[in-house]
Amino acid sequence: MAPPYPSLLILLFLLTSQVTCYGSEKEKSKTFIIQVQHEAKPSIFPTHKHWYDSSLSSISTTASVIHTYHTVFHGFSAKLSPSEAQKLQSLAHVITLIPEQLRSPHTTRSPEFLGLTTADRTGLLHETDFGSDLVIGVIDTGIWPERQSFNDRGLGPVPSKWKGKCVAGENFPASSCNRKLIGARWFSGGYEATHGKMNETTEFRSPRDSDGHGTHTASIAAGRYVSQASTLGYAKGVAAGMAPKARLAVYKVCWSDGCYDSDILAAFDAAVSDGVDVASLSVGGVVVPYHLDVIAIGAFGAASAGVFVSASAGNGGPGGLTVTNVAPWVTTVGAGTLDRDFPANVKLGNGKIVPGISIYGGPGLTPGRMYPIVYAGVGQFGGGGGSGGVDGYSSSLCLEGSLDPKFVKGKIVVCDRGINSRAAKGEEVKKNGGVGMILANGVFDGEGLVADCHVLPATAVGATGGDEIRSYIGNSRTPATATIVFKGTRLGVRPAPVVASFSARGPNPESPEILKPDVIAPGLNILAAWPDHVGPSGVPSDGRRTEFNILSGTSMACPHVSGLAALLKAAHPDWSPAAIRSALMTTAYTVDNKGDPMLDESTGNVSSVFDYGAGHVHPVKAMNPGLVYDISTSDYVNFLCNSNYTTNTIHVITRRNADCSGAKRAGHSGNLNYPSLSAVFQLYGKKRMATHFIRTVTNVGDPNSVYKVTIKPPRGTVVTVKPDTLNFRRVGQKLNFLVRVQIRAVKLSPGGSSVKSGSIVWSDGKHTVTSPLVVTMQQPLD
Ligand SMILES: *[C@@H]1O[C@H](CO)[C@@H](O)[C@H](O)[C@H]1NC(C)=O
Ligand SMILES: *[C@@H]1O[C@H](CO)[C@@H](O)[C@H](O)[C@H]1NC(C)=O
Ligand SMILES: *[C@@H]1O[C@H](CO)[C@@H](O)[C@H](O)[C@H]1NC(C)=O
Repeated sequence: MAPPYPSLLILLFLLTSQVTCYGSEKEKSKTFIIQVQHEAKPSIFPTHKHWYDSSLSSISTTASVIHTYHTVFHGFSAKLSPSEAQKLQSLAHVITLIPEQLRSPHTTRSPEFLGLTTADRTGLLHETDFGSDLVIGVIDTGIWPERQSFNDRGLGPVPSKWKGKCVAGENFPASSCNRKLIGARWFSGGYEATHGKMNETTEFRSPRDSDGHGTHTASIAAGRYVSQASTLGYAKGVAAGMAPKARLAVYKVCWSDGCYDSDILAAFDAAVSDGVDVASLSVGGVVVPYHLDVIAIGAFGAASAGVFVSASAGNGGPGGLTVTNVAPWVTTVGAGTLDRDFPANVKLGNGKIVPGISIYGGPGLTPGRMYPIVYAGVGQFGGGGGSGGVDGYSSSLCLEGSLDPKFVKGKIVVCDRGINSRAAKGEEVKKNGGVGMILANGVFDGEGLVADCHVLPATAVGATGGDEIRSYIGNSRTPATATIVFKGTRLGVRPAPVVASFSARGPNPESPEILKPDVIAPGLNILAAWPDHVGPSGVPSDGRRTEFNILSGTSMACPHVSGLAALLKAAHPDWSPAAIRSALMTTAYTVDNKGDPMLDESTGNVSSVFDYGAGHVHPVKAMNPGLVYDISTSDYVNFLCNSNYTTNTIHVITRRNADCSGAKRAGHSGNLNYPSLSAVFQLYGKKRMATHFIRTVTNVGDPNSVYKVTIKPPRGTVVTVKPDTLNFRRVGQKLNFLVRVQIRAVKLSPGGSSVKSGSIVWSDGKHTVTSPLVVTMQQPLD
């Protein structure tokens, strides 16, 4: 049988070389975010905007200001040619130019963006007015305001501190906002500067969501109770967000081809000056140093204004070093499964049953009937047994236009996962007369499955099941047959949670001494609100309309934590964003509902701290953590100093002149008062090595309490904590301790590494405050 991967690699290679040719074009303009010395504005300019316009016209006849930034950043954005950029950089008041990145939402519907979520909830204080003064800002694709999830029944007046606005636009009168949705804005300047004018028949020039992702994430964070929620009959029940009483403000920054940095920074700027308490960002790109990362810069400004920023970790898993949005002032959220799934098994002509997952809700296959089954990658062109020739890869993936109706009509078609969206494969099969589809993982995908609202009877199977089906088709002496048996919604699934296969993993590519992701939250097959503009599969031909939809991604996990952060802030108004994150991390759990260590969906093996960080969030315990690890803005500056950022690059992030001399004396970047500990040793021939961490805990539990430490040292290490007892006399009191980690070097090949994890647990008998401790040994290449 034709292995699909070599062809796939060729395709990827082709795409890459095209990009290279494109990039060699000279004088191509691109958007930059420009930081200026804010206080240097000459008094002749009435506003900063006038000054920026004048700076631009001094170096260009065509460039214009896209956005100006005042709150989390000082400066503006503009599209510039390389020579204009160079001239602008030479102006005395210009600090730096940051090239724009294009980001995309973190759902698994890549490459289309769609979003989804659902709420497994805790019943946490849902019946009170709890959290109703809190505002969650969702930076995303906008909102469909008419959904029941956004009704304002029984909510009090808009909190008096709110300074935001409901900005009207296409199909979005100012009356679209209410006492639930209290703010809505959109930012398209960066998008249109690069992409050209938006197509207003497919997109709304307003906060209205033409995609679905933002409606979905907003309702996960703060959707009201809606009874009888379901999508196409699946996942029936009451839907509600994590903080049903919290207010929502939406900042639309994602458009048809993604989310542009210049618009994202404008959204952070507006959200912080509007007065949000939490900013939720289910969007990301590639990891770059923090002074070049506009999300990190915007989030720093937000965090130093007391705004909790949660961001999705990304869907680049299960491989290592895939985690994104890794700045230590951001709470980085990976995805886990719920104890609910949607079985839809494949029954083969030889009697074998292959387990699958689907939320297809239309007319099914005829019960009891077996259908002919074919593998799209084999036999389509040239009469069977061949590799499919040059088109082998596109047909095995069921890319648009790759299937021959003569080959698939009346049959169930097996398509390989990858490249195009999962639902688009189903659309291609349906268009060519196929009666059903089996979406089969390859080795790279492992066993991780995502349920989709396919446009025809279809199910998804893992790599093992996929191999079984492909080999049955290839080896069957009689014509191969199969059917798909849909079993609806199954609850109480064990084990759960499991780390979702796609969830992006550590180690942290930018700051290995900060463990990322921080936590995981539900992100697989989540039910949440959905717009009328888009069918639940997300493919253009899908004419079905549903109030709710089921989607997967770390995009769906992030707003769970955003909503939870709002609840924690409501219960503890004086907590900083770092204290809220600490509460979430130190109370997180790492065992599943069978009492076993949490597994990894991609392998079925036990997962690790690089997969889940501190673990899965536990909302009720996070309300009362006992101790917190707090972090101030100056602690982050010290961290940047100790991470070898220069005073100039630190200024770009913090807008302040940093004095790094004190920080350098105080130690190393691992001394940031983080609730997790990560020691990285480079083995330069030494047998024994040691490092230490200083930590400070703040008592937020009972005034008089005595905490004792329990150490679970990573294998092969000696860990000591001094003192081993902390005696608190009052609430708010801070006490320090020192953790010393000694290792005995292990033999590693050049470039190899060894990772071991353990934990440090403080307990007063009532609270358990757990910090993961991970030790990495790396053998340098030479
Ligand atoms: C806008 O989108 C519609 C629908 O896809 C399409 O028919 C139309 O040609 C597009 N207009 C432009 C100017 O691209
Ligand atoms: C999963 O565990 C099995 C059995 O311990 C092991 O052979 C396999 O290599 C593991 N897989 C991965 C991807 O770590
Ligand atoms: C910073 O630079 C010093 C000196 O070169 C080096 O020892 C240290 O490991 C660096 N720290 C980080 C976090 O890169």
